[in-house]
Amino acid sequence: MAELNAALAGTFTIGGDLTVNRLGFGAMRITGSGIWGDPADPAEARATLSRLPELNVDFVDTAESYGPYVSEELIGEVLAPYSKGTVIATKGGLTRTGPGQWPPNGRPEFLRQGVLMSLRRLKLERIDLWQLHRIDANTPRADQFGVIADMQKEGLIRHVGLSEVSVADIEEASTHFKVTTVQNHYNLTHRVSEAVLDYCAANGIGFIPWYPLAGGELAKTNEAFGQIVAKYGATPSQIALAWVLKRSPVMLPIPGTGKVAHLEENVAAAALDLSDEDFATLDAIGRAGA
Ligand SMILES: NC(=O)c1ccc[n+]([C@@H]2O[C@H](COP(=O)([O-])OP(=O)(O)OC[C@H]3O[C@@H](n4cnc5c(N)ncnc54)[C@H](OP(=O)(O)O)[C@@H]3O)[C@@H](O)[C@H]2O)c1
Repeated sequence: MAELNAALAGTFTIGGDLTVNRLGFGAMRITGSGIWGDPADPAEARATLSRLPELNVDFVDTAESYGPYVSEELIGEVLAPYSKGTVIATKGGLTRTGPGQWPPNGRPEFLRQGVLMSLRRLKLERIDLWQLHRIDANTPRADQFGVIADMQKEGLIRHVGLSEVSVADIEEASTHFKVTTVQNHYNLTHRVSEAVLDYCAANGIGFIPWYPLAGGELAKTNEAFGQIVAKYGATPSQIALAWVLKRSPVMLPIPGTGKVAHLEENVAAAALDLSDEDFATLDAIGRAGA
């Protein structure tokens, strides 16, 4: 297996002062089925988290809604006090009414409670990166963005990110606070956020592609890019991650897993250097929806 060191993916500096290794970790999969309740194998989930600092994975994405609370609680239990430089990026603004259900709630009092409770569970005094999980269509945007700006001024939040947004959304939110990251659905075969990614790259905003492995589909043997996988002596998940990493210097992939072996396999992608030609071939295959 290639060297296991997330730092080989290079770094990105969030908001001008928060530098992380570009290959991060998504902590949604350390919960139960439907992202509800405890993980099926809590010892393996804890072991997966414990392995992160050893692999130099210092950017961890979570949300109050994962479990709900389970993911943040496990992170607080296993990783706090945090290794120097570790950035825990969490999110708020979604309620959980059952497995697989995520109704948005952007009312200011709910967003504020979310931040205060995330701080408690994560054992932090300030959240380095807090992301609005979804803009709530039923709450005035100025109310949602306004309370986030207030919490940043109060020192509860260091940097603010958005999730599942358009360029117009980013521009509107930017009149209230500096948008430092955007987290949208993006991977080799799901490319609807290309324009948002280009906007982020042009404006120094970190782009966090969620579902970088298409929920595990891109970790499976794929006839279309099998030759490239073989050429690099890699696995499909490593090629999919190496591709997103090469796509843009603002890209911060957060592959999700609750298994140590999968984490290690994914982190090894940081050492992979795709040629320009292979990048272009994968790009074409991905656009064709392979
Ligand atoms: N902002 C949003 O709305 C939003 C939405 C969804 C997710 N997210 C964030 O994005 C992160 C990543 O997304 P995701 O977890 O949904 O999808 P993903 O990273 O594309 O795929 C994760 C799935 O692939 C499997 N997997 C991971 N590595 C593997 C490997 N090397 N070999 C085989 N299978 C592998 C995992 O199962 P195992 O656990 O069995 O390894 C899991 O089921 C999440 O953890 C979360 O932090 C954000």
